[in-house]
Amino acid sequence: MDKGVIQAIKEKLDIADIVRRYVELKPVSGRWMGACPFHQETKPSMSVNSEEGFFYCFGCQASGDVFDFYSRINGLDFSETLEQLAAEAGIELKPGKVDPDAAKRSSERRIITEMHEISASYFSRMLEMREGRSAREYLLKRGINSEIIEKFRLGYSSDDWQGLQNFLVSKKYTIDHAVKGGLLSKNDRGRTYDRFRGRLIFPIQSLSGKIIAFGGRIIIEGEPKYLNSSDTPIYKKGDHLYGLSQARTTIARTKKALLTEGYMDVLSLHQFGYTNACGVLGTALTPDQVKRLSGFCSRVDLVFDGDSAGMKAALRSAEMILAQGVACGVVVLPDGEDVDSILQTKGAEGFQKFLDEARDGLDFCIATLKAGHAPKEIMAWAEKFISHLSTDALKAFYLPKLASGLGVAEIGLRSVLSGSGASASIEKKSERQSGLRIVPVGSHENDDKYFLRFAVRHPEFVQELFERGVSQVLSSHWGKKLWSKIAAHSGEDILPYLDNSEKSFWTGCRMQPSLEGDELSNEWRHLCRVIAKKRFSVGRKQLMDALRQAQAQGDRERVEAYLKALNDSVWRDDEQH
Ligand code: GTP
Ligand code: MN
Repeated sequence: MDKGVIQAIKEKLDIADIVRRYVELKPVSGRWMGACPFHQETKPSMSVNSEEGFFYCFGCQASGDVFDFYSRINGLDFSETLEQLAAEAGIELKPGKVDPDAAKRSSERRIITEMHEISASYFSRMLEMREGRSAREYLLKRGINSEIIEKFRLGYSSDDWQGLQNFLVSKKYTIDHAVKGGLLSKNDRGRTYDRFRGRLIFPIQSLSGKIIAFGGRIIIEGEPKYLNSSDTPIYKKGDHLYGLSQARTTIARTKKALLTEGYMDVLSLHQFGYTNACGVLGTALTPDQVKRLSGFCSRVDLVFDGDSAGMKAALRSAEMILAQGVACGVVVLPDGEDVDSILQTKGAEGFQKFLDEARDGLDFCIATLKAGHAPKEIMAWAEKFISHLSTDALKAFYLPKLASGLGVAEIGLRSVLSGSGASASIEKKSERQSGLRIVPVGSHENDDKYFLRFAVRHPEFVQELFERGVSQVLSSHWGKKLWSKIAAHSGEDILPYLDNSEKSFWTGCRMQPSLEGDELSNEWRHLCRVIAKKRFSVGRKQLMDALRQAQAQGDRERVEAYLKALNDSVWRDDEQH
């Protein structure tokens, strides 16, 4: 891990600006406070410290720096987080040694991203101009209001083969980049032209809100009805969800997402108050998309079309969501309807009834299978379903449900599944893999925490604490380890070196105001006494042990020496100050 780059990114980014995208922050006595997005909470329990670059929740002890926050709320791993935050901070990551082209590719990605932003503004201006009249009328007809148009940055691409191309060239972008970025197409003779023409434009945003692709719906007549960007250096089909950038705050807060199949469905849901809605983008749901969602929600309700194609897609999607350990519901709409048509005709109230009656995901899968499949196929499905579960704990969770749903004995199902290797792992005691280290508690540790809390709150005393031998009086393994990190990294950003429990302790201490004046000097004096006393008693205990050992061995000389040393070691309170 390159700590230099991490530091540079932290210096460029204000953690409060990042947190504010997901949580409303209010200033409370010189700090930012907001509702913690990591547990069910409406009261402002999370504090964000801009100056020192960390956050801490008094409710659930979630804590850490901007990297911790960003990766947790977006469900990203460290390298993805690093890449995205580096891009936001405008810091180029050093290209890996194996790949000399990486720098070029990274600058290309930057240019293409920029071109998407500027193209979105172009499309959105087009929607407002004379050319965009038919598109505006279309949106009106579909019942989409101006707030939604703005929130989703909808636009229009005029029926012009060179409109965007001329615009991009006027902005000094190369045709080559525009083709690579999927904004222009190239015919057999090498002639380039606008990819999107005469379409209502739906910008597709990444989680961090950058426009990375477009979808376009035809508004007059023609084929295909929808056109999406092809894969480009900044966009891979199946990686993203439409509207997730706009929905993420609500999803993170409520822990629930609505997943639909259509662009218009997402827009209508947001307009009618379901701001946790997002959509798959013209493809089947992918595991990557589920991973993106599951990072910050615990339940996904599928709101697919009420026809057989919609139900088939719901089955596949439910399977995939359940496999990642996320709860899933399936909203069943009448055949021939989609959520957009329900909302536009019956309003939120009409849709809420269907949402309230959402089927449990696994029940839905089993019922759908039973309705149209041979026993052989059903059991094959069950086998595959279990083998795809990501942990043993999930297997243990689903196996009895699956057995009862299918109407077979659990033991029978296990033996069927043993061929796929599932049953062996189910029987193994599953250990829950939670990211949190459990801190052993005990009085030793509480004493340790007293010293450590002071060290964290008053880093200017770390050196002196070291000289006074605080390391000799720490007794828990946890405390010793944290102290060694504090001592080794005093004066620099320590957060990247801490594990979760240390982070939570460290940020919790930093949340408390530091002491000043007399209060500080009194506390320091007291602390020194406690250290000295502890060292004294630790020393005495060592002497006593040695004495006992010498007595047991009948070593008169050593016994005498230890007795004398013990006699001399009288606690003197005055020597400490
Ligand atoms: P509207 O007619 O605008 O209400 O769209 P819809 O969402 O109701 O259409 P439909 O149910 O036919 O399609 C659902 C989603 O599938 C769309 O929102 C698109 O994302 C995608 N889709 C539909 N038609 C096409 C197509 O021709 N090409 C591609 N790539 N995707 C399509
Ligand atoms: Mn529709």
